[in-house]
Formats: sequence, C-alpha cells, structure tokens
Amino acid sequence: MAIQVIDQRLFVLHTAHTTYAFGLNDKGLLWHLYYGQRLTRTEDLLWQLNHLPSVPHHGRDTAMLEFSAAGCLQNKETSLHVVHKDGTRDFRYALTNISVAEDTLTVTLTDEPYALAVDLIYRVWEAHDIIERQVRVRNAGADTVEIRRLFSCELTLPGDGWQVMNVSGMWSLEQQVHVDAVTYGKKVWESRLGTSGFSAQPWFAAWQQADEMQGEVYFGALAYTGSFKVAAECVPYHYLNVVMGLNDYEFALPLEAGESFTSPKAYLGYTSEGLGGMSRRMHAFAHDCLMPQQRRDETLPVLYNSWFSTEFDVFGDDQKKLAEKAAEIGVELFVIDDGWFGQRHHDRAGLGDWYVNPDKFPKGLQDLIDHVHGLGMQFGLWIEPEMVNPDSDLFRAHPDWVYQYNNRAIITGRNQYALNLTRPDVVDHLIKTFDELLSSYTIDYIKWDMNRFLAETLQADGSHGTVWHEHSRGFIRLAQELRRRHPNMSFEACAGGGARVNFETLEIFDQFWPSDNTNPLDRCRIQEGYSMIHPPKYMRAWVTDGRLPLALRACSAMCGALGIGVDLNKYTAEELEEMRTAVAQYKEIRHVIQFGKLYRLRSLREHGLQVWQYVKDDEAVVITLVQHAAEALPIIRLEGLQADARYQVGEGEKAYCVSGAFLMQRGIRTAGNRDLNGTVLRIRKVEDNHE
Ligand code: DGJ
Repeated sequence: MAIQVIDQRLFVLHTAHTTYAFGLNDKGLLWHLYYGQRLTRTEDLLWQLNHLPSVPHHGRDTAMLEFSAAGCLQNKETSLHVVHKDGTRDFRYALTNISVAEDTLTVTLTDEPYALAVDLIYRVWEAHDIIERQVRVRNAGADTVEIRRLFSCELTLPGDGWQVMNVSGMWSLEQQVHVDAVTYGKKVWESRLGTSGFSAQPWFAAWQQADEMQGEVYFGALAYTGSFKVAAECVPYHYLNVVMGLNDYEFALPLEAGESFTSPKAYLGYTSEGLGGMSRRMHAFAHDCLMPQQRRDETLPVLYNSWFSTEFDVFGDDQKKLAEKAAEIGVELFVIDDGWFGQRHHDRAGLGDWYVNPDKFPKGLQDLIDHVHGLGMQFGLWIEPEMVNPDSDLFRAHPDWVYQYNNRAIITGRNQYALNLTRPDVVDHLIKTFDELLSSYTIDYIKWDMNRFLAETLQADGSHGTVWHEHSRGFIRLAQELRRRHPNMSFEACAGGGARVNFETLEIFDQFWPSDNTNPLDRCRIQEGYSMIHPPKYMRAWVTDGRLPLALRACSAMCGALGIGVDLNKYTAEELEEMRTAVAQYKEIRHVIQFGKLYRLRSLREHGLQVWQYVKDDEAVVITLVQHAAEALPIIRLEGLQADARYQVGEGEKAYCVSGAFLMQRGIRTAGNRDLNGTVLRIRKVEDNHE
C-alpha cells in the first residue's frame, strides 16, 4: 500500500524504492521521521515516533518538524508566516483531519481560536519514486488573515556535512552548476523578478556523500514559473532544513473569511544512484507524468531558424529562399523569429502590434507558409505576448496596461515594458489577439519569448502584496488558454534564452530554449546544468555559425532536440552537404536521445571532455565532445546496458561485437585524439549468432 496511516498519528508513504514518514508526537507536533530507501517494518517508525526528543511548547529549532510556522521559538526559515487581525503572528495547531483518497494523503492542522486550517497534501507517484507536496491554507474564521509566507514543502535531512547543488547564471550563460557545502547558516536560491529567471533555478539537490554515479541524493523541483525561493539551512541541531515555494519577498496575501490559498506543487525525490540517478528519475517523471500528453511521445522535428543570421530583417521572399535550402538539408520545421510584425525593424518598436508587416510580406504570411508546407516542412512563428514597446500602437492606446509608478519614468528592459497580467482585461485582450493570429494562419509551432523581468509591480489601488504571484497566474492562464484552443500546435518556451525553464512551464510547453549561447563548449556546460532535472527532449539546441569545427557544433546540438541556425545563404554546396549529413545522422539517433535514459559519463566542467550516453531499449548512443585532447583519451565504462547481451559498437569496417558486461566493466575508447572534436557512436544489440 502506498499510503499507510497508523494509529491516526503515523503517516508512511511508500514508492517503489523509497519510504517517507512523519508523525505526531506526544505534544501534538508533527515531526518528520524518515526519508530514504524503502522500509518495510513500519513498527520501527512507530518506535521512532515514541522515542523522539522532548520539545517544550509549539516548536523550537531542535525539532525536525514536518511543517513549521514562524513565531513558535523558531529561528530557522519556516514554511508559514501568518498575521491575524489582532496581531497574533504564529500558528499553533491540533491535527483535526486525515483523509486518504487514492494516491493522496491530506493531513489537516487547525489553529482553533482563529479557525485557520492548513492542509498538508501528499501525492505519491509510486512507480516514479516521487512525493508531490502542496500546502493549502483555509480561513474558516470571521476575519481576514494575512499570509506573508507559504512554502510548498519543508524537508528535514538528519546529520551534518551536507552538500547542495543548484545552477546559477545570467543571460547567455545559464544553468552553471554549483555545489556548496552548507556548513552553517543558509544557502538561498531565489528569483525576485517575476519569472524563474537566470540567477538560480527552482530546484535543489542535497547529499552527504555522492557523485554523478553513486550515493544518496535528495532532490526537489518546484512547479512554479514566478518568483520562487529555495533555502537549504544547516540548523545547529544537526540537520539540514530545506524549504521551497513561491517567494515571500513582498508577498502579503489577504485571505478573506471563507477563502483558501494553495501553494504551487513541489516534487521531492530520493535516490541511492547519485546525481545521474536523480536526473534519470526526474526525466522519466517529467515525461510520463507532466509533459503535455498530446505531444510528449511525438519526436521533435529538426528545425531551422534564421534569427542569428537575419535578426529583424525577415522578408517573405528571402525567407522562401532560406526555406528551400533548409528543406534540402533535411529540415522539418521552418521558423520565422522576431521581426515579422508591426514596425518591428529593431528591438525599439512594434512589440504589441501583432499584425503581419505588409512591406516585409507583400504577398502575406500565408503565402510563405504555403511555400514552406509545399516544401514538406512545418511552419513556426515567434511571439512575445507579455510585452510592449513604448513605440507601439498598443501602448499608445492603453498606456495604463503596463506596470508603472505614478511619479517615475517607467524602467525599460530591452526597450520594452511589461504588461500588467494581473488585470483580467489585459489577459483577455492577449487571448483574443493571439487566438485570432493562430487561427488566421496554418501555423504548426510557436516560439513564445519573454525578454524582460518585472519591476514597478503595483496595482491601480496601490496594493502590491500579491502582484508578483498574480502576474505569473496571468501568464499561465494565457498560455493554457491558447494551448487549449490550439491543441495541434507545438509550443516552445523561451525567455531571452533559459529564463523560463521550470517544472510548471514544462507542463504546458513542449520544449525549452535553454540559452542564446550556441557556442558548443559553453553550451555543454549550460546543457549539463539543464540536464540535472530537465529532460533532453525539452532541450532545443541549434548548430550556428562559428569558427569551431562543425563536428563539435553539431555534436553539441545533437545532445538535445537539434535545430539549425546557420546562415544557409553563405554556405557552399560542400558545406550544405556536410550539414545534410549531420541532420541525417541525427534523425537516425534521435529516438534514443529524445526518449532514452541519459548517463553523463564525463563532464566538460570537470574533465575537459564531455561523454553523454543515451540508452533506449536495445540501443545506445554515445556523444563525445573533446575540448583538449589528452595524448590518449581515457577508457570509459558505459552504463545501463544488458550485461548478458551482445552489442555491435560502431558501424562499417571498424564495428565490433562485445558483451554488455564488457562495455560496462572494461569500457570503450570514445574518440580520436583531436582537440575540439565531436563524435557520435552508435551501439546496437545484436543476436547471439552475429559476428
Ligand atoms: C531572445 C531569444 O532568446 C532569441 O532566440 C530570439 O528569439 C530573440 N529574443 C528575438 O528577439
């Protein structure tokens, strides 16, 4: 049974390989008891619950609480902070209800004098080894309560010496992996800019002794695209307290009598198979349980996008010629990026005016689309719904639709203002505008961009306590509604690169644009951070122009969903042929890359050499990128094969057949001794009699 409730006070959640337990002690406090490898004897957990250290009153940092609230002698970062009308600012509860419905346990804690209830909600994703958590606050009292903080989960991990991982970055250098020792105090990763952003990402990993291949790792991801906060705190009483949720920065939500507020979802996991095991679990969970179902099993097409070569100079006839060349090299999806609409000749004008520029497309957009379809490719279009340029008809017509302060000039980011998506009329206008656009043309794919963060988040009535959160809900409503109305369209999430890569966007979009940086070596580092929890299928990667060898550029882009962003007009017949070969090669291996299990065998960050292996059913693909070749490249052990099966390694004359055991115990030499090289090696299971 996935959920066990014992004596109305011990709660045990089992997944295929893990157990999570918490319980009520003799003082009525909910303690976290255990998270780790699956335990079968629940009597042991009951014994633990009956032998907890004694804690006076309603808290104290000494207690490894399952749910903590500010104000109860707690110094650590707590999950809840409420302010009652009479000035009371803590939460003292009794356990008032327990409900189990299929895979979900809800434990209700109530602060009786105020009739304020907190529902701790646990959904068990048994086969995927994930515990989903959410917290709901319900105000059954007569007065308004102000919620100043409500995190989605709290996790206490016993012991000292914890290492934690997150990724930091900036525009064009996203997802840089960082590992820190939390020896004392706390490590906070957050966004205060209205979207998950570049600086940190809404997830964490924590371990005491682990590496890529082995060891116990705890991890969690927040399904939230707005400002978030993750804090990992070394509490002096020998445990790590991790909280994660929407950011409490400027958060103040008045919860009226009878209202409730539910936190975003958090997904928690544990593995004993190191960081690689964490990634594979999260990739499988994302694919099987979160990605939009109508497209998750579809192979992503090879796309072409001319942004890096033409920028805003997109003209119908030129794009037709590019489309012809793209079709010749095997491209399957042709995308028009920024610059096709309004007076968008540069980034200083036009955003908000979503009509096709008649000078750039004198025969209309459908003429180009028909041409692209006629060449056997799908057609894609770039949009940036949430923004306006000051120089736009939309802003001139509705200057009050953007965030602003009364007595200040409005701050610009990439020469644009942010529309106030907390206003239902603004979101309704955007739904209508983009629904009309997407209905007027036979578009197959949308690249949805967003190029500035929020500031001046103020409502017309002067309030601001919920604006950051409400803005992100406006974006979600807009995206969900367009998706609902256009179910056959594929959607890519881009935000000036990777500022919107998170597990909430992942539930609505079909792929991400992780970065504007397409330098293959930088990109490897970005992709490594990205791949920690996000699936390779979601990782759009383009081959662009550059001085580094094509083999390196192509191999780096083949690690995810391949795209081409080179200036095809400048390519010689020979170079086009080279590109065609790379595209054809990718098409042969992409089912393994987009749907297989990823093993990061070597990291460019640590070894000057990246070796990624993907395994799907009876096949494996090993992509190697060499930055500085050593005299002899190391022998690398493969992973995830069947020990007793035989595999053909490579193709053509140099191919050889050996057992899975040999490949995993002895290993292979991956690539030739050449600097700045990239290679693809295919490994396929063969019948026993095959020589
Ligand atoms: C930022 C994106 O990351 C780029 O790929 C491109 O779409 C530009 N915006 C267009 O303005």
